[in-house]
Amino acid sequence: MTKINIIIGDPIEHSISPQIHNLMYQKLGIDKEYVYLAKKVKNEDIEKFVENCKTENVNGLACTVPHKVEILKYLDEVSEEVEKIGAANTVLNINGKLHGYNTDWLGIYNPIVEHKLNIENRKVGIIGAGGASRATCFALKKLTDDIVIYNRTFDKAINLANEFGVEARLYEDLEKDINEYSLIVNTTSVGMGDLKDQSPISFGNLQNKDLTIFDIVYTPFETKLIKEAKGLGLNVILGYEMFLHQAVEQFEIFTGKKPLVSEMREDIISLLNKDA
Ligand code: ATR
Repeated sequence: MTKINIIIGDPIEHSISPQIHNLMYQKLGIDKEYVYLAKKVKNEDIEKFVENCKTENVNGLACTVPHKVEILKYLDEVSEEVEKIGAANTVLNINGKLHGYNTDWLGIYNPIVEHKLNIENRKVGIIGAGGASRATCFALKKLTDDIVIYNRTFDKAINLANEFGVEARLYEDLEKDINEYSLIVNTTSVGMGDLKDQSPISFGNLQNKDLTIFDIVYTPFETKLIKEAKGLGLNVILGYEMFLHQAVEQFEIFTGKKPLVSEMREDIISLLNKDA
Protein backbone atom coordinates (compact mmCIF):
# COMPACT_ATOMS: atom_id res chain seq x y z
CA MET A 1 0.00 0.00 0.00
CA THR A 2 1.23 3.48 -0.82
CA LYS A 3 2.58 5.33 2.20
CA ILE A 4 1.20 8.81 2.57
CA ASN A 5 3.12 11.86 3.76
CA ILE A 6 1.21 15.11 4.21
CA ILE A 7 2.38 18.68 4.69
CA ILE A 8 -0.06 20.64 6.81
CA GLY A 9 -0.28 24.40 7.25
CA ASP A 10 -2.52 27.40 6.79
CA PRO A 11 -2.02 28.73 4.14
CA ILE A 12 -0.53 25.77 2.25
CA GLU A 13 -1.30 26.43 -1.44
CA HIS A 14 2.14 27.86 -2.16
CA SER A 15 4.16 25.03 -0.64
CA ILE A 16 6.51 23.44 -3.15
CA SER A 17 7.27 20.49 -0.84
CA PRO A 18 4.80 18.06 -2.50
CA GLN A 19 6.28 18.66 -5.95
CA ILE A 20 9.85 18.38 -4.72
CA HIS A 21 9.34 15.18 -2.74
CA ASN A 22 7.12 13.52 -5.37
CA LEU A 23 9.67 14.30 -8.11
CA MET A 24 12.33 12.60 -6.03
CA TYR A 25 10.08 9.60 -5.39
CA GLN A 26 9.85 9.26 -9.17
CA LYS A 27 13.57 9.68 -9.68
CA LEU A 28 14.32 6.97 -7.13
CA GLY A 29 11.55 4.72 -8.51
CA ILE A 30 9.63 4.72 -5.21
CA ASP A 31 6.59 6.68 -6.40
CA LYS A 32 4.38 3.61 -6.07
CA GLU A 33 5.55 3.27 -2.49
CA TYR A 34 5.24 6.91 -1.38
CA VAL A 35 3.14 9.96 -2.13
CA TYR A 36 3.45 13.44 -0.60
CA LEU A 37 0.29 15.55 -0.32
CA ALA A 38 -0.56 19.02 0.99
CA LYS A 39 -3.53 19.75 3.22
CA LYS A 40 -4.75 23.02 4.61
CA VAL A 41 -5.43 22.48 8.31
CA LYS A 42 -6.74 25.30 10.46
CA ASN A 43 -5.51 25.76 14.02
CA GLU A 44 -8.76 24.57 15.55
CA ASP A 45 -8.76 21.39 13.42
CA ILE A 46 -5.29 20.11 14.19
CA GLU A 47 -6.17 17.72 17.02
CA LYS A 48 -8.83 15.93 15.02
CA PHE A 49 -6.61 15.85 11.96
CA VAL A 50 -3.72 14.25 13.84
CA GLU A 51 -6.04 11.62 15.37
CA ASN A 52 -7.34 10.75 11.89
CA CYS A 53 -3.78 10.41 10.63
CA LYS A 54 -3.11 7.79 13.28
CA THR A 55 -6.19 5.72 12.45
CA GLU A 56 -5.65 6.08 8.69
CA ASN A 57 -2.03 5.06 9.20
CA VAL A 58 -0.47 8.09 7.53
CA ASN A 59 3.31 7.62 7.32
CA GLY A 60 4.52 11.15 7.93
CA LEU A 61 3.43 14.71 8.61
CA ALA A 62 5.37 17.82 7.67
CA CYS A 63 4.34 20.87 9.67
CA THR A 64 4.61 24.42 8.53
CA VAL A 65 3.22 27.74 9.82
CA PRO A 66 1.27 27.84 12.15
CA HIS A 67 1.54 24.23 13.39
CA LYS A 68 5.19 23.67 14.28
CA VAL A 69 4.70 24.36 17.99
CA GLU A 70 1.09 23.25 18.41
CA ILE A 71 1.89 19.80 17.00
CA LEU A 72 4.10 19.04 20.02
CA LYS A 73 1.00 18.40 22.16
CA TYR A 74 0.10 15.40 20.04
CA LEU A 75 3.50 13.70 19.79
CA ASP A 76 4.48 10.58 21.71
CA GLU A 77 8.24 11.08 21.38
CA VAL A 78 10.37 14.03 20.37
CA SER A 79 14.04 14.31 19.41
CA GLU A 80 16.48 16.27 21.53
CA GLU A 81 16.49 18.99 18.85
CA VAL A 82 12.70 19.36 19.01
CA GLU A 83 12.92 19.73 22.76
CA LYS A 84 15.56 22.47 22.58
CA ILE A 85 14.08 24.32 19.60
CA GLY A 86 10.53 23.93 20.88
CA ALA A 87 9.13 23.10 17.45
CA ALA A 88 8.79 20.15 15.09
CA ASN A 89 8.51 20.26 11.31
CA THR A 90 8.60 16.51 10.69
CA VAL A 91 6.51 13.77 12.29
CA LEU A 92 6.85 10.05 11.64
CA ASN A 93 4.12 7.59 12.52
CA ILE A 94 5.77 4.44 13.84
CA ASN A 95 3.11 1.82 14.64
CA GLY A 96 0.63 4.43 15.81
CA LYS A 97 3.17 6.39 17.87
CA LEU A 98 4.08 9.84 16.59
CA HIS A 99 7.76 10.77 16.66
CA GLY A 100 8.68 14.45 16.18
CA TYR A 101 11.84 15.76 14.53
CA ASN A 102 13.17 19.16 13.55
CA THR A 103 15.05 19.38 10.26
CA ASP A 104 14.84 23.19 9.98
CA TRP A 105 18.01 23.72 12.00
CA LEU A 106 19.93 21.54 9.51
CA GLY A 107 18.63 23.88 6.83
CA ILE A 108 20.79 26.53 8.51
CA TYR A 109 23.70 24.38 9.65
CA ASN A 110 24.36 22.37 6.49
CA PRO A 111 24.58 25.31 4.02
CA ILE A 112 27.08 27.04 6.33
CA VAL A 113 29.23 23.89 6.34
CA GLU A 114 28.75 23.41 2.60
CA HIS A 115 29.88 26.99 1.90
CA LYS A 116 32.94 26.26 4.07
CA LEU A 117 32.20 29.29 6.22
CA ASN A 118 34.45 29.37 9.20
CA ILE A 119 32.49 31.07 11.96
CA GLU A 120 34.16 29.30 14.85
CA ASN A 121 34.42 31.86 17.67
CA ARG A 122 33.35 34.60 15.26
CA LYS A 123 30.44 36.96 15.89
CA VAL A 124 27.18 36.15 14.13
CA GLY A 125 23.90 38.06 14.08
CA ILE A 126 20.36 36.74 13.82
CA ILE A 127 17.51 39.03 12.80
CA GLY A 128 14.14 37.92 14.16
CA ALA A 129 12.95 36.09 17.25
CA GLY A 130 10.20 33.77 15.96
CA GLY A 131 10.21 30.04 15.25
CA ALA A 132 12.76 30.22 12.43
CA SER A 133 15.05 32.23 14.66
CA ARG A 134 14.91 29.51 17.33
CA ALA A 135 16.07 26.85 14.87
CA THR A 136 18.77 29.25 13.62
CA CYS A 137 19.99 29.96 17.14
CA PHE A 138 20.19 26.23 17.86
CA ALA A 139 22.19 25.64 14.65
CA LEU A 140 24.62 28.54 15.14
CA LYS A 141 25.27 27.58 18.76
CA LYS A 142 26.95 24.44 17.42
CA LEU A 143 29.48 26.65 15.62
CA THR A 144 30.04 29.71 17.81
CA ASP A 145 29.06 31.14 21.19
CA ASP A 146 29.25 34.73 19.99
CA ILE A 147 25.65 35.25 18.85
CA VAL A 148 23.54 38.42 18.90
CA ILE A 149 19.78 38.50 18.28
CA TYR A 150 18.12 41.60 16.84
CA ASN A 151 14.36 41.85 16.75
CA ARG A 152 11.82 44.60 16.10
CA THR A 153 10.06 43.62 19.33
CA PHE A 154 12.99 43.79 21.72
CA ASP A 155 11.36 41.78 24.53
CA LYS A 156 11.15 38.74 22.29
CA ALA A 157 14.84 39.08 21.44
CA ILE A 158 15.71 39.25 25.13
CA ASN A 159 13.65 36.17 26.00
CA LEU A 160 15.13 34.10 23.22
CA ALA A 161 18.66 35.30 23.96
CA ASN A 162 18.27 34.38 27.63
CA GLU A 163 17.00 30.95 26.74
CA PHE A 164 19.95 30.18 24.45
CA GLY A 165 22.55 32.04 26.54
CA VAL A 166 23.32 34.63 23.85
CA GLU A 167 23.07 38.43 23.53
CA ALA A 168 20.12 40.63 22.45
CA ARG A 169 20.44 44.08 20.95
CA LEU A 170 18.03 46.67 19.60
CA TYR A 171 16.95 46.19 15.99
CA GLU A 172 17.91 49.79 15.24
CA ASP A 173 21.50 49.13 16.33
CA LEU A 174 22.32 46.61 13.62
CA GLU A 175 23.24 49.30 11.12
CA LYS A 176 25.96 50.73 13.37
CA ASP A 177 27.13 47.27 14.59
CA ILE A 178 27.39 45.74 11.14
CA ASN A 179 31.20 45.64 10.88
CA GLU A 180 31.42 43.33 13.91
CA TYR A 181 29.89 40.38 12.06
CA SER A 182 31.15 37.43 10.00
CA LEU A 183 27.65 36.19 9.30
CA ILE A 184 24.16 37.66 9.59
CA VAL A 185 21.06 35.48 9.12
CA ASN A 186 17.69 37.02 8.32
CA THR A 187 14.92 34.87 9.80
CA THR A 188 12.15 37.47 9.52
CA SER A 189 9.58 37.67 6.75
CA VAL A 190 10.98 41.03 5.62
CA GLY A 191 11.72 40.65 1.90
CA MET A 192 8.76 38.42 0.99
CA GLY A 193 5.11 38.97 0.09
CA ASP A 194 3.96 42.49 0.90
CA LEU A 195 7.42 43.21 2.34
CA LYS A 196 9.30 42.22 -0.83
CA ASP A 197 10.52 45.77 -1.47
CA GLN A 198 12.07 45.98 2.00
CA SER A 199 15.35 44.75 3.42
CA PRO A 200 16.02 44.10 7.12
CA ILE A 201 19.62 45.37 6.86
CA SER A 202 20.99 48.81 5.96
CA PHE A 203 24.55 48.63 4.69
CA GLY A 204 25.28 52.37 5.01
CA ASN A 205 28.15 51.84 7.50
CA LEU A 206 29.60 48.71 5.92
CA GLN A 207 33.38 48.57 5.75
CA ASN A 208 34.04 44.91 6.54
CA LYS A 209 33.56 42.95 3.32
CA ASP A 210 34.32 39.68 5.10
CA LEU A 211 30.63 39.26 5.83
CA THR A 212 28.22 36.56 4.69
CA ILE A 213 24.50 37.25 4.42
CA PHE A 214 22.15 34.26 4.76
CA ASP A 215 18.53 35.14 3.99
CA ILE A 216 16.10 32.32 4.72
CA VAL A 217 13.40 33.96 2.56
CA TYR A 218 13.25 32.05 -0.76
CA THR A 219 10.34 33.76 -2.50
CA PRO A 220 11.52 35.83 -4.30
CA PHE A 221 14.48 33.61 -5.17
CA GLU A 222 16.80 36.56 -4.61
CA THR A 223 15.47 39.04 -2.07
CA LYS A 224 16.25 42.74 -1.96
CA LEU A 225 18.68 41.95 0.87
CA ILE A 226 20.50 39.33 -1.22
CA LYS A 227 20.67 41.61 -4.27
CA GLU A 228 22.12 44.46 -2.22
CA ALA A 229 24.62 42.17 -0.50
CA LYS A 230 25.75 40.73 -3.84
CA GLY A 231 26.03 44.24 -5.25
CA LEU A 232 28.43 45.08 -2.42
CA GLY A 233 30.54 42.01 -3.16
CA LEU A 234 29.48 40.11 -0.04
CA ASN A 235 29.22 36.34 0.15
CA VAL A 236 25.58 35.21 0.19
CA ILE A 237 23.58 32.09 1.05
CA LEU A 238 20.14 32.00 -0.53
CA GLY A 239 16.94 30.92 1.19
CA TYR A 240 16.39 27.99 -1.16
CA GLU A 241 19.47 26.37 0.39
CA MET A 242 17.70 26.20 3.73
CA PHE A 243 14.63 24.77 2.03
CA LEU A 244 16.79 22.17 0.26
CA HIS A 245 18.59 20.93 3.35
CA GLN A 246 15.52 20.69 5.57
CA ALA A 247 13.85 18.77 2.73
CA VAL A 248 16.80 16.38 2.31
CA GLU A 249 16.68 15.43 5.98
CA GLN A 250 12.90 15.16 5.96
CA PHE A 251 13.00 12.92 2.90
CA GLU A 252 15.28 10.53 4.73
CA ILE A 253 13.09 10.45 7.84
CA PHE A 254 9.96 9.76 5.75
CA THR A 255 11.43 7.10 3.45
CA GLY A 256 14.63 5.84 5.07
CA LYS A 257 16.33 6.64 1.76
CA LYS A 258 18.75 9.39 0.78
CA PRO A 259 17.51 11.72 -1.98
CA LEU A 260 19.73 12.75 -4.90
CA VAL A 261 20.76 16.07 -3.43
CA SER A 262 22.08 17.79 -6.54
CA GLU A 263 18.96 16.81 -8.50
CA MET A 264 16.74 18.01 -5.69
CA ARG A 265 18.65 21.30 -5.71
CA GLU A 266 18.06 21.70 -9.46
CA ASP A 267 14.36 20.86 -9.07
CA ILE A 268 13.95 23.48 -6.34
CA ILE A 269 15.80 26.16 -8.30
CA SER A 270 13.76 25.59 -11.43
CA LEU A 271 10.45 25.42 -9.58
CA LEU A 272 11.10 28.59 -7.61
CA ASN A 273 12.21 30.46 -10.70
CA LYS A 274 9.24 29.19 -12.72
CA ASP A 275 6.84 30.53 -10.11
CA ALA A 276 8.68 33.87 -9.84
P1 ATR B 1 8.60 32.33 11.93
O1 ATR B 1 8.06 31.15 12.67
O2 ATR B 1 8.64 32.14 10.44
O3 ATR B 1 9.92 32.80 12.46
P2 ATR B 1 7.13 34.34 13.37
O4 ATR B 1 7.25 33.53 14.60
O5 ATR B 1 5.82 34.97 13.05
O6 ATR B 1 7.52 33.50 12.09
O7 ATR B 1 8.27 35.47 13.41
C1 ATR B 1 8.35 36.47 12.46
C2 ATR B 1 9.58 37.33 12.73
O8 ATR B 1 9.65 38.33 11.71
C3 ATR B 1 9.52 38.06 14.05
O9 ATR B 1 10.82 38.17 14.57
C4 ATR B 1 8.97 39.43 13.64
O10 ATR B 1 9.30 40.49 14.51
P3 ATR B 1 8.35 40.83 15.77
O11 ATR B 1 8.73 39.86 16.83
O12 ATR B 1 8.70 42.23 16.10
O13 ATR B 1 6.93 40.68 15.29
C5 ATR B 1 9.67 39.61 12.32
N1 ATR B 1 9.01 40.59 11.45
C6 ATR B 1 7.85 40.42 10.77
N2 ATR B 1 7.55 41.54 10.07
C7 ATR B 1 8.55 42.43 10.32
C8 ATR B 1 8.82 43.76 9.89
N3 ATR B 1 8.00 44.41 9.04
N4 ATR B 1 9.95 44.37 10.34
C9 ATR B 1 10.78 43.72 11.19
N5 ATR B 1 10.58 42.46 11.63
C10 ATR B 1 9.49 41.82 11.21
